[in-house]
Amino acid sequence: MYNANALKIGMFGANCSSARSATMVPERWSGSWPDCLKLARMADDAGIDFMLPIGRWKGYGGDTDFHGATLETITWACGLLASTSKITVFGTVHAPLFNPIIAAKEMVTADQIGQGRFGLNLVAGWNEGEFEMFGVAQRGHDDRYEYAQEWMDTVKRAWSEPGPFDVDGKYLQLRGVRAEPKPYGGTRPLIMNAGSSGAGQAFAMRNCDAFFTASAGSRTSLENNAKKVQEVKAQASALGREIEVYTVGLVVCRPTQKEAEDYYRHAIIDHADWGAIESMMALRNLTRETLSADEFAAKRQYFAANAIGGYPFVGTPDKVAEELSNLGKAGLRGIAVSFVNYLNELPLFAAEVLPRLQKMGLRAAT
Ligand SMILES: Cc1cc2nc3c(=O)[nH]c(=O)nc-3n(C[C@H](O)[C@H](O)[C@H](O)COP(=O)(O)O)c2cc1C
Repeated sequence: MYNANALKIGMFGANCSSARSATMVPERWSGSWPDCLKLARMADDAGIDFMLPIGRWKGYGGDTDFHGATLETITWACGLLASTSKITVFGTVHAPLFNPIIAAKEMVTADQIGQGRFGLNLVAGWNEGEFEMFGVAQRGHDDRYEYAQEWMDTVKRAWSEPGPFDVDGKYLQLRGVRAEPKPYGGTRPLIMNAGSSGAGQAFAMRNCDAFFTASAGSRTSLENNAKKVQEVKAQASALGREIEVYTVGLVVCRPTQKEAEDYYRHAIIDHADWGAIESMMALRNLTRETLSADEFAAKRQYFAANAIGGYPFVGTPDKVAEELSNLGKAGLRGIAVSFVNYLNELPLFAAEVLPRLQKMGLRAAT
């Protein structure tokens, strides 16, 4: 992440079965350790900048039990960091589920293993059913971020202060905290957050180096994306901070436009796991009971086609590279992409799309 690439590219969601595509096609992503390891090595060799896992604890059901099998992200990151040399690997941590001192030490361990290549995606939590499984009650929405602030402050202190120190917060009361060693090389891990609410965005402005937004893809115009990036950066700079803005998307790249579009329709629409999609919608109270039949059908289509994987980049290497370059022009620092099957699809992306982005001046040669 600290390299010269103007537009950073990461792999999103590889630690989860089916990754970011609720599809029944047999080649859907396994999320298994051997496949993740192969992918991380392939991505590292190709000059991909980061791997961003999803902190997910329970599947969404459907015929495939979408996200039914997930590798825990910090331990996953440790294994991948030990097996790669350049790529940044994030761990995705739900603040209310992890004791902050244990988390701080786990992350330092990962960062030591990766010699400074560990990053933190801090999640305040939103999925009620997952929390029940831990016997942890969700706080009110904005209180989650208030708690996350104390949690983050404590972790940062454990990473930087010699200690012992006490924490006398509203939520955390800790005595005689000492945590050695510190993160690798006297720096601290990169921190990101992807809150979409006002409280979530404000948290990112105060604490994070990177802010991920699912709403800035090329689904909106270049001008809208540029406006969003400027708005986020202006808010951060009012707090005396700098923040980089990233987005997410699904890539289906094939030698011809027709092949790409045919596969996208085949995997994402014709073979969608509608049961899983409907259960994800239900978490947001989008059901046959709360919506009219037409609204429900439209939302269901939108979820399958756009919401789960993010904006779909579907086409030839020229088209995908051009659409990605538009994100760079809008001021976005990077994108976390997913594929239906990363191991099958990354080779073409690396061989054809990355060199085009290099020619456009958005990425350095690998
Ligand atoms: C790129 C990206 C990654 C995210 N990763 C996770 C995750 O791994 N686990 C999770 O429970 N939520 C994840 N989220 C959800 C956000 O952290 C956040 O809770 C959600 O966008 C709702 O925003 P709010 O908390 O401000 O209401 C992610 C969102 C985005 C856009």
